[in-house]
Amino acid sequence: MLRHFMFDVLSNMSIKTASVILAAGKGTRMCSSIPKVLHKLAGRPLLEYALDLGLHICNVPIVVLGFESEKVQEFIGDRAKVVLQNQQLGTGHALHQAADVLRGQVDMVLVWAADMPLLTKSLLEAVVHCQTKNEGPVSIITAISDDDRGFGRVVRSDRREVQAVVEQSDATSEQLAINELNVGVYCFDSLWLWDELSTLKPSASGEYYLTDLIESAASQRQKIGVVTSNAGDEIIGINTRIHLAEAESALRARINHSWMERGVTLIDPDNTYIDSNVEIGLDTTILPNTHLQGGTVVGSECTLGPNSTIRDSVIGNRCKIESSVVEGAILEDEVDVGPFGHLRAGTHLGNGVHVGNFGEIKNSYLGPGVKMGHFSYIGDAIVGARTNIGAGAITCNYGMDKQKHRTEIGEDVFIGSDTMLVAPLRIGSRVRTGAGSVVTKDLPDDSLAVGVPARIISRLVDDKAESQDE
Ligand code: UD1
Ligand code: CA
Repeated sequence: MLRHFMFDVLSNMSIKTASVILAAGKGTRMCSSIPKVLHKLAGRPLLEYALDLGLHICNVPIVVLGFESEKVQEFIGDRAKVVLQNQQLGTGHALHQAADVLRGQVDMVLVWAADMPLLTKSLLEAVVHCQTKNEGPVSIITAISDDDRGFGRVVRSDRREVQAVVEQSDATSEQLAINELNVGVYCFDSLWLWDELSTLKPSASGEYYLTDLIESAASQRQKIGVVTSNAGDEIIGINTRIHLAEAESALRARINHSWMERGVTLIDPDNTYIDSNVEIGLDTTILPNTHLQGGTVVGSECTLGPNSTIRDSVIGNRCKIESSVVEGAILEDEVDVGPFGHLRAGTHLGNGVHVGNFGEIKNSYLGPGVKMGHFSYIGDAIVGARTNIGAGAITCNYGMDKQKHRTEIGEDVFIGSDTMLVAPLRIGSRVRTGAGSVVTKDLPDDSLAVGVPARIISRLVDDKAESQDE
């Protein structure tokens, strides 16, 4: 059936385009029990990149799911409409599953595979634009490259008109030598698409190839629009874990370049790992082997690394983090951590806090100016401003009753070296504890306590009472 569908170029704005993301395949070549689209790239599942692109094209993208669809659907939530492909019978069959939802609803259908996470908005816009001007029923993206990546080859006639896309497994040796590749992004005229999909015949492998529609259009002497990408990293498709690693390094390079262009110094970009959702302020310097992960937000003029991992944390301005691990923490301004600090979930450090080597903090607030120089553990605690935690002092927050208990420490306190603070406990302001004391009872303001268990020996603080590590 020959059907011409003419677009009125002048009324482009009113052309409705749907986006369909193909994601039903198991991803057999990944050798994994996890659906391919949930494998992570720069900290985010592959599918999230496709969803971002889909949302850019239209309000509600459609995702075709099959293998482990419940797991993937849970991840998608309400960000897209899901249609199911119960049997994975090929890319043409996958797209056909969206027919009931889209037939008669839109003018054009933009289709691509969820395993192409480096595609850019501008490339997708280019193929949509190409199709709005095309009198024929489909426009495709091709790339010229000597690295075939196992992609389908774009076969052209002597007059350079596209005739077909031939899959690598079905290609003749002559066709295998073609260096114009099918990137796997198509913009169809909707009316034509659904009718043609119903006429698709299975290939030799038994799959219904979406790519066969190119030959259908050519055999109807219809015009096929072509956008040729310059074959940068955009066209990396992920079929194997080797491709995943290739995409990871390409995307990391893209992210790192973009941060350098926006005023962040990377001493060694090849060894700096910034997830795609991270935010970084002006004039921050990142030293080698530093990993900024998840939803981490970093302020200005910080120095991070070397050898640090900062995950899902908020770091203020002018902070310094060296050879440390920071997870789920909030650091206000001018905080310095490390080397070899570990800040765990629920840590909140006020302005100017210093956490030195081998400090560990969990679920605690340390007020402005608190110093914790060496080998200490603070968990489930609140520590007042300017308090000094001596070397080796810890909160014993896990009781014999197998419950976690809280410790409250006031302002300007001097916790002596190796003090054990047995929670639940309240330590008043300006308290001092002697080196090695084991504090099991609350201490009032201005007291000095020593010994095991600690006894209060003075209410008025004697400045020379105890020596402290600094
Ligand atoms: C496909 C193209 C190939 C192109 C390449 C570019 C076909 C037949 N081949 O090959 O020309 O060069 O992409 O990346 O289209 N899917 C389903 N249901 C299925 C089968 C696949 O939803 O029954 C989904 C997959 O989840 C995947 C996408 O379609 O996201 C592409 O499938 P894949 O098997 O990766 O195709 P390629 O071999 O890469
Ligand atoms: Ca693929």
